[in-house]
Amino acid sequence: MTTSREVRLKSRPEGLPTAANFEVASVELPAPGPGEVQVRNHFMSVDPYMRGRMYDRPSYVPPFQIGEALQGGCVGEVIASNDPSLQVGDTVQSMLGWREAYNAPASAVQKVDTSSGLPLQAFLGIAGMPGMTAYAGLLRVAALKEGDVVFVSAAAGAVGSVVCQIAKIKGHTVIGSAGGPEKAAFLKSIGVDHVIDYKAVPDLKAALREAAPRGIDVYFENVGGEHLEAAIDSARPFARFALCGMISQYNETGEPKGPSNIIQAVGKSLKLEGFIVSNHYDLLPDFLRDMSGWIASGQLQWKDTVDEGIDNAAGAFIKLFKGENMGKMLVKLS
Ligand SMILES: NC(=O)c1ccc[n+]([C@@H]2O[C@H](COP(=O)([O-])OP(=O)(O)OC[C@H]3O[C@@H](n4cnc5c(N)ncnc54)[C@H](OP(=O)(O)O)[C@@H]3O)[C@@H](O)[C@H]2O)c1
Repeated sequence: MTTSREVRLKSRPEGLPTAANFEVASVELPAPGPGEVQVRNHFMSVDPYMRGRMYDRPSYVPPFQIGEALQGGCVGEVIASNDPSLQVGDTVQSMLGWREAYNAPASAVQKVDTSSGLPLQAFLGIAGMPGMTAYAGLLRVAALKEGDVVFVSAAAGAVGSVVCQIAKIKGHTVIGSAGGPEKAAFLKSIGVDHVIDYKAVPDLKAALREAAPRGIDVYFENVGGEHLEAAIDSARPFARFALCGMISQYNETGEPKGPSNIIQAVGKSLKLEGFIVSNHYDLLPDFLRDMSGWIASGQLQWKDTVDEGIDNAAGAFIKLFKGENMGKMLVKLS
């Protein structure tokens, strides 16, 4: 038997989640059955989309159930195998995060190619789902083209910081918005042309107009609310908006505020397109080729914020909604 601890949903959060919405429980794992492996997780991811799964409502992923372990991206190591496709010591990823160890059918885990030399946690960030979201959202959904001025919200986060850098690599003017001087300094260090510390400016619309006097062509939307309104205000005719997320609304208890100026989308012929990364995995080979080149040449940098231990996993998740992460928020489990 292997003892593992896991995080379960104790109650559905109302507004900002609190520690009381989660509980840590111990489970005993038997030896893996036929066709199964046993994995010890080294890192698990906490992501804003998980908040959506805490509501009991239909969505593109089913809701988490009260009393059950949460799920999410993780990377770890096979510690016992009862399937010929995987050996003890193999590095694997799966969606069975939020737990220290697990048994699963070998088909439910994917072997990670560690030959690139990237640190393990990068497969949950820059070389994983958030990186892929940035890549697909900017290059396919927003269809970045020559001369575009690009505006990115939550620009110092896991997705946003990759969006900014891909746009810079491709030669664009980039405006990034993030909260606080430390994040602003990070954005400058990765080459963002104009940084807006949205917590420090009295009027976001005015700040964006000043940063982009001739307007923006692309908006990579991570935040919603005031940010979306400011982007509509500064949009040039035919601007494209990749609607990736709207984190400012995820904990909203009342009716979220709509952009009061959405009428401008008509006159400016704006294209607003939402997307979910899982519908764009046909781009994976291109993503892996481009990312490995950019990382190897030092053109792409990243930051992680790493908390330690399963007991701190819920706290790490809550940090996302307080802006207490820089780059990818992760939990180190072993
Ligand atoms: N469509 C998809 O397939 C897909 C996939 C992955 C992620 N996403 C979305 O992409 C966005 C970024 O995700 P991520 O994983 O990269 O997270 P992240 O940006 O690393 O972390 C979340 C950040 O959001 C900002 N934030 C939180 N509450 C806010 C508020 N009320 N107003 C303004 N900013 C707020 C904070 O940064 P500041 O300190 O700057 O405020 C925080 O650090 C999220 O909306 C997420 O849901 C979508």
